Parts: sequence; C-alpha cells; structure tokens
Amino acid sequence: MAIKHFLQFNDLTREELDYLFERTRWIKQQFKAYQQYWPLSDRTLVMIFEKASTRTRLSFEAGMQQLGGSAIYLNTRDSQLGRGEPVEDAAQVISRMSDLVMIRTYEQEIIERFAANSRVPVINGLTNEYHPCQILADIYTFIEHRGPIQGKTVAWIGDSNNVCNTWLQAAEVLDFNVHVSTPPGYEVELERAGLYGHAHYEEFADPMEAARGADLVTTDVWTSMGFEAENEERMRDFADWQVDADMMKVAGKDAVFMHCLPAHRGEEVAAEVIDGPQSVVWDEAENRLHTQKALMEYLLLGKVAG
Ligand code: CP
Ligand code: NVA
Repeated sequence: MAIKHFLQFNDLTREELDYLFERTRWIKQQFKAYQQYWPLSDRTLVMIFEKASTRTRLSFEAGMQQLGGSAIYLNTRDSQLGRGEPVEDAAQVISRMSDLVMIRTYEQEIIERFAANSRVPVINGLTNEYHPCQILADIYTFIEHRGPIQGKTVAWIGDSNNVCNTWLQAAEVLDFNVHVSTPPGYEVELERAGLYGHAHYEEFADPMEAARGADLVTTDVWTSMGFEAENEERMRDFADWQVDADMMKVAGKDAVFMHCLPAHRGEEVAAEVIDGPQSVVWDEAENRLHTQKALMEYLLLGKVAG
C-alpha cells in the first residue's frame, strides 16, 4: 500500500475529510468520557521542530500517548539535523525507527524531500507555506458550532501567510468561499498557496468589505516565524488590518471568530473580540488534539469502524 502523507491540505479528498471529521467526533467523545482507546499501542511518533511551538507539540505528544503510542521530540538545536545532515539521510534513518513523523520547518520543499525518502507517513506541522493541521481543527470547530462549512464564507484579514494559504486550499476541497483582505504588497500568491484559479476566493482592498456578512472571521499574527526581520515594517503596513468590534458587527450575526494562536491583542485582533462572545479560540485550540488523533489513526490504520 502506498504511504499516505499529509503535507498539504489537499492531500486529503473531501470524502476522506468527511470521514476524519466524523471520526474526530467519536474520538473526542471517548476522551471526554475517560474511555481508554489505544489503537496505536507500540507505535512511535517522531516530532521534528525547527521552529517554536506550544500547541502543535502538546497536541501531537498528548494525542499519541492517549492513543496508546509514544512520541519523541527532536529539534534542530541539539540533534544532527541542525548541523547539516542531508534531509534525505535523516528521513531514511528516522523512518526506520518510527511509525509516523511530524515536522515543523521552514520551506515546504524540506518536508517534501523528507517525505520522498521516508518509509512512514509524514505530517506537516507547519511550514512557511502551509499549516494543514490547523485548518483541520478550525473546520472541525466550525462544524461543531455552526454545522457544515460548504457554501459558507470565511473572511481572512491580514497576512497571506501559511494559515491563509491553507484556508484557500481547504475552500477548493470543501467548497466554501474565502474573502481575503491583505495590505498592498502582501497579496495571495497563487502558486505559493497551491492554487490554480480564483474559484473559491475573492480579494478585497478594504478589510471591512471582506468581513461583511461572513460566517467566520479569522486572522493571524502580522509577523510569522521566520519573518522577524520585517517586524517593524509590518507593524506599520498592517495597522489597519485589525479585527475589532466594528468589523465583527458587519460580519454575519452568527459569525464566529477564530485565531490559530498565539495572538497579539491590540495588533491583529482587539482584546474585546478574542475574549468576546463570538470567539471560539479555546475550542479551536483544543480541537487540534482531537482532529490530529483522528488523522494519526487514519494515516496508520486507514478507515476503522467507530
Ligand atoms: N497554532 C499553533 O500551531 O500553535 P503553536 O505554534 O503553539 O504550535
Ligand atoms: N503564521 C504563524 C502561525 C503560528 C502557529 C507562523 O507561521 O508563525
């Protein structure tokens, strides 16, 4: 059987995603009822981090343990990975000693090269281009709160970064719309987003217009990891791209607010929004755990009966 990786959101079909969301619901229920469920006993996940993380590390490590397996953390500061060992060699070795690999790194190309030389499934834990595990959790959270996402409108306010690119891919696969508003000079790059057309997204110069009538309003930091040198310039360029209470007022009346976190109150989001009644950010963060447990189970065991 061919190895199944999750390197970009569109590595999964709509049918597979529907299965994963159903499966997540069951796995989450088991967890909430303190039911032991160990389908991955004796399986080992290796997690490789080239960038910082709280949620991704915790949700993968706790998730693997809760499924009966174990997780090993490697970073580039104290392993040979930071000392120039070729990615291809690392992939050969690491995948001979483990069952599953999760990587957070810089260029998408690094994870593609790792996967091409891996004997086991590889999961993208964030690259400069994509953050597919985040959008899995975000869409599951939307479904929990508001039902199916098909035909709905997501407003993305701010940087056309890894999280934005992944929303755009997800819209293609799951048939919803994304309204994007970025400052001039930070627009979506189609190729970087892995897109070939504009079928499911529209760009707006005015962030208020992007948010108007939306079912979900979301944003992310103005400066992503790896772009710190641009921070000062970005603080100036993004000043008018804050999700505030006025923006939430023009969104749909049942609109929810999401943020992948970590957030900067007073920059990309006003405190009254992220800490307000429309915000679902804590459920969104928790659902990283449940959706990734379903993902790991699927990549290792395929479809299983609930
Ligand atoms: N949202 C997210 O991926 O958070 P971490 O950077 O803490 O993993
Ligand atoms: N866009 C952010 C997401 C962090 C989870 C970054 O890449 O830093």
